Amino acid sequence: MQWLQYVREIPDFPEPGVLFRDILPVLAHPDGLAEIVQELEALIRPWQPEVIMAPEARGFLLAGPLAFSLNVGLVAVRKPGKLPAPVIDEAYTLEYGENHLQMEAGLPLAGKRVVIVDDVLATGGTVAAAARLAHRAGAEVVGFAFLIELVSLQGRSRLSSEVPVGALTAL
Ligand code: PRP
Ligand code: HPA
Repeated sequence: MQWLQYVREIPDFPEPGVLFRDILPVLAHPDGLAEIVQELEALIRPWQPEVIMAPEARGFLLAGPLAFSLNVGLVAVRKPGKLPAPVIDEAYTLEYGENHLQMEAGLPLAGKRVVIVDDVLATGGTVAAAARLAHRAGAEVVGFAFLIELVSLQGRSRLSSEVPVGALTAL
């Protein structure tokens, strides 16, 4: 299959003016998850991650199989109110609003090489907040990996220029 042809474009979601790229139809295809995970794994493996970190919700769908096939840890970064206390919290803005991300406090991340994975890089607010959480836990962020980079939103500019950023496709 060619996974990109299964990405659906939805105008004016979740608010007027946003052209939303929906990756869920890719995952619904029987070959979809295998294809994108193989491509992401090839991108990420040279960064020698010890932990895959991903934000809720679509990032989780990629992080599970990636952490499994790379045989590394997985850290789920959640929207507010989902995790039992104590948490560490970072606020962020995105194309359509603002929110917070939270991570369980006390995870054994000190000194670990972390790769942050998500479906879409838009403004970069989400993964920049995830990176701040990783740093507060003492980890080293060694890469950011996405299925899709929405280039016009300049998400890369919110990420450290010293850390590699990769996307399977740029739109
Ligand atoms: C979307 C997407 C990324 C983020 C990208 O998630 O899955 O996580 O926005 O935007 P940014 O680069 O501007 O931060 P969303 O917050 O809609 O959450 P969901 O996956 O829970 O629907
Ligand atoms: N798809 C998924 N997440 C997003 C998008 C999108 O088009 N834009 C901002 N976050």
